[in-house]
Amino acid sequence: MAETTSILFVCLGNICRSPTAQGMFEKQLAASGLVDHVRVDSAGTGEWHVGHPPDPRATEVAAEQGVELGSQRARQVTPADFEAFDRILAMDRANLADLQAMAPEGSRARVELFLSYARHADVDEVPDPYYGGASGFSRVLDLINDASDGLIRDLRSRLVE
Ligand code: 4NP
Repeated sequence: MAETTSILFVCLGNICRSPTAQGMFEKQLAASGLVDHVRVDSAGTGEWHVGHPPDPRATEVAAEQGVELGSQRARQVTPADFEAFDRILAMDRANLADLQAMAPEGSRARVELFLSYARHADVDEVPDPYYGGASGFSRVLDLINDASDGLIRDLRSRLVE
């Protein structure tokens, strides 16, 4: 079976939350047996960090959990992404609103909050950690871990009979 679905994680800068989501989700995907059936990428609604590697604070916190972010480079969301991906998963409501505003009429992607897949979180947005300290990055990783697990469960129920 070839690739059967595609997911784009989106935040503001594409250097903290969405690269962490891509890395964590890819790690869980590798253990799930679904890796050949899901294409994953991340992007930002903003353009400031295009071409930059993930924030070193995000890379460090992720590495402590065995999640590798180092090879990612930031890019900005484009209108073509709404045809190229089945699901576009926003980290917070501002990202969601920006995505909804730029979605071409009738495009294919389902645009959702990523934490709608979380099973334990008491919030529905991944807070922007950029101007905070290290604990904010740990919180981001925990929320993303939870939602990644829920997303794998959702995909497994759809992709595997
Ligand atoms: P991210 O975090 O959206 O999780 O990548 C941010 C990164 C950079 C900025 C804001 C948020 N910034 O204002 O440059």
